[in-house]
Amino acid sequence: MEEKGRLERLDKLLALHLGISRKEAGSLVRKGHVARNGVPVRRPEEKADPENDVLTVQGTPLRLQKHVYLMMNKPQGVLSASQDPKAKTVVDLLPPELSRRGIFPAGRLDKDTTGLLLLTDDGDFAHKMLAPRSHVWKLYQAKLDGPVGTGEQNLFREGLRLPDLTCLPAELLLPPGEENGSHTVQVRIREGKFHQVKRMFKGVGRTVLELKRLQIGALLLDETLAPGEAKPLSPQEAQLVFQPFPDEKGQF
Ligand code: URA
Repeated sequence: MEEKGRLERLDKLLALHLGISRKEAGSLVRKGHVARNGVPVRRPEEKADPENDVLTVQGTPLRLQKHVYLMMNKPQGVLSASQDPKAKTVVDLLPPELSRRGIFPAGRLDKDTTGLLLLTDDGDFAHKMLAPRSHVWKLYQAKLDGPVGTGEQNLFREGLRLPDLTCLPAELLLPPGEENGSHTVQVRIREGKFHQVKRMFKGVGRTVLELKRLQIGALLLDETLAPGEAKPLSPQEAQLVFQPFPDEKGQF
C-alpha cells in the first residue's frame, strides 16, 4: 500500500517553502497559479502531502522539504523550549506560516540570552549538532561587569579548569586596541554545557551582564531579523553549522 505522509494546508506549505506570508500564499492559490500533481487547485485550505505530492507554482515544481529549519533572533525573557505551562517559549513566537507540528529549538540559550537559535523538526539534525563529539563551534558576544584582557585570553586558550567544569580550549576575542582590558568581548567555544559561557567568565572573576550568540559553525545570525523574528533556512544553509568558522579570527 502506498505510504501516506502527513497532510498540510496548501497556503501553509507554500508560505513555508517560498518564504512568503500565508496571506500571499492564499492569494497565489486563489489566482490559479498553483497545481497539485498537475491539477490546478483554487482553495488555500486544501491539503497536500509534502512527501508524496508535487506542487507547482506557475508551472515550476516546488521542492517540498521533508524538514523545516528556522533561524530565530531570540529575544530576552523567552524560554528555549517548545511548550511551558507558565512562560512564553520560542515556539510560541513563531507565526503560523512558519510553525509546524513537532518543531523544537535545537539547543538552548538561557532565558536572558539573545541571538542565534535554530528551530527544526529534524531530530537527527539536532542530535548531530548538539552531540559533544561534533564539536560545533559557537560564537558569543558578552558584556561583562569588568574588563578582561590577554591574561584571561591565555587561560581560555589553555582550557579553563573550574571547580565543577574542565573546559576545552576556547578563544577569547578582544576588540583591537583593547587587549589590556575590555568589557565587551567575544568568545568561541566548541562545547555547550549548562551556562557554559557564564561559568567560564565567573571562573576568571567576571559576571556576564549580557550574552548574545552570533554564530554557529559557518552560520551567522541574520542581524536584519528583529528580536523574536524567524526565517526559514534551506537544508543546505542549516548544514553550515557543521562547517568551521569562515574567519578564524572571529568578527572583531
Ligand atoms: N552559555 C551560557 O552561559 N548561556 C547561554 O545561553 C549560552 C551559552
